[in-house]
Amino acid sequence: MLSDEKNKLLTQVGPNTPMGDYLRRYWHPIAGVSEFDDKSVRPIRLFGEDLVLYKDLSGNFGLVQRRCPHRNADLAFGYVEKCGLRCAYHGWEFDAEGQCTHQPYEEIVDPEAKLRKKIRVTAYEVRAKSGMLWAYMGPAPAPELPDWELFNYENGFAQAVFAEVPCNWFQCQENSIDPIHFEWTHNNWTARLQSDDAQYVPTHLKTQYEEFDFGFIYKRLRAQESELNPMWTVGRVTLWPNAFYLGHHFEWRVPIDDESTLSVLWVFNRVPKEQEPYVQQHIPSWYGPLYDDEGKWITSHVANQDFAAWVGQGRITDRSNETLGASDRGVTLLRRRFFEELEAVAAGKPPKGLITDKEANRNVFLPSACRDELMNGMSRAELAAHPLLGPYLRDFIGQAGQPASVREAYEAAIGQKLEGAQFFSVHGARNEPGDESSTK
Ligand code: FES
Ligand SMILES: [Fe+2]
Repeated sequence: MLSDEKNKLLTQVGPNTPMGDYLRRYWHPIAGVSEFDDKSVRPIRLFGEDLVLYKDLSGNFGLVQRRCPHRNADLAFGYVEKCGLRCAYHGWEFDAEGQCTHQPYEEIVDPEAKLRKKIRVTAYEVRAKSGMLWAYMGPAPAPELPDWELFNYENGFAQAVFAEVPCNWFQCQENSIDPIHFEWTHNNWTARLQSDDAQYVPTHLKTQYEEFDFGFIYKRLRAQESELNPMWTVGRVTLWPNAFYLGHHFEWRVPIDDESTLSVLWVFNRVPKEQEPYVQQHIPSWYGPLYDDEGKWITSHVANQDFAAWVGQGRITDRSNETLGASDRGVTLLRRRFFEELEAVAAGKPPKGLITDKEANRNVFLPSACRDELMNGMSRAELAAHPLLGPYLRDFIGQAGQPASVREAYEAAIGQKLEGAQFFSVHGARNEPGDESSTK
């Protein structure tokens, strides 16, 4: 339980809020590179600020304030030039650093461009990496954009998947340190959506949480598993400050504003060994819906189940009205660590887990319960039998709404058609030695 005041500290992310300023010290994925295959400008809202994201005629990306400083026209109607964005109203042009670089009529009457030189728009650094566009909205200099090891794995098909989720970011991130919910939100709910007679999966017996440089590691042990299970020996990463790393995919929860969050999944599927060598030429990105054609919540896919759970907690969940138990130890640790961080940064200390050394930012290791499988590869038969990765041979289990073009590209990569399965039973990491049962 938290006071209203402490809840505001965790949840308010606009400009000049402690958490907003804190999170701006990190790079965040904000869009797919492939979105700009067929457009060059679009509006975007991040951390309570209305902005415009664009790709100029030189292929460089920019992120600037949405309102033109001349007379407030919407720069989302602007058009790109060789080097920057031009307002569609009177033609003022701005570069990616925010400097006004052209004021067509003003420069006729004032060839020295005294006014133009004084005009800037707010501009943030944008970089493309691994099929995603990343923004840095904090003070200069920007830290390194993390080069996580998974981004560099070979022989795989990656995709970036987005959704706008109408609730505050922190309740999404609390989910990254909440192992018990897997059993209920993903396993048992999925089973019960298919049948009222469905059996529940083996329950959790114990959990453990450890802090490290890049966040927390949580470990979980279920009934019928031994302590050799990689979910207990390796676990998963609550990636600081607003992400989750599950070995074959990342999830980021990027604040749009206090009441909305951009969910970003980056999923890597290694192709069966029979398909190697495989080199992906183009990482697709797409946005999935939250509701079906009848306006009902989609609950068939893993991320959609999470979205329903998070939004169900309320737009900004009321943490003065909750009852925490032993299952919430990770959530409590996470909150406490954020409060400590906000104080430490206010006292001038560097934020947790920032990578500032270029040399240290090469292929950065994170613990992963399926690292061996993704680094070494698996035959089609081995992959099909894998309790975590095998379901991706049946369909894309991550999130509903995958476009046909992405599915077809994936099918070509893995060398087989998907079944179009509607529900998925996803369990931990690989089977334990000597364990032949693939799902538990
Ligand atoms: S409002 Fe943008 S140039 Fe006039
Ligand atoms: Fe989940």
